[in-house]
Amino acid sequence: MVYEKDVSRRAVLCGLALLTLGLIPENAIAASGVKVLANGKVEITLPKNPALKKVGGVVQFTNNQGIDIALVRTGKGATAFKALNLACTHQGYPLRKEGNKWVCDNHLSNFSIAGAVTKGPAESPLQNIPLKATRTKVTVG
Ligand code: FES
Repeated sequence: MVYEKDVSRRAVLCGLALLTLGLIPENAIAASGVKVLANGKVEITLPKNPALKKVGGVVQFTNNQGIDIALVRTGKGATAFKALNLACTHQGYPLRKEGNKWVCDNHLSNFSIAGAVTKGPAESPLQNIPLKATRTKVTVG
């Protein structure tokens, strides 16, 4: 029993150390209220995604073609959003969110949360996917 307690304490301390060092990947916020429309576009209901209330807020989802997409609030306006294809523009490796940026673990390119290249070797910004936004929903595709 004492051993289990020690292991548990060690596991917690290790986890805290890794979190402090930023070594545990941040979990992306999965979009809620996602509906795939008959035309293949994806509709995101804004009231169900509080992360999108603030500028720089992000939710992620995968469309019906298997493309990982980030919906990013880019401004205070009700329709200020970008939908970004989360494939690295260098060689297509999937990106992960780290703090306020997108990181490619393949060759370490970095992109701003709105998709601009901040560190190569990638040279092109993330692909923008067309969208239509209203005060209550964003339709992507
Ligand atoms: S595939 Fe992303 S940096 Fe090379």
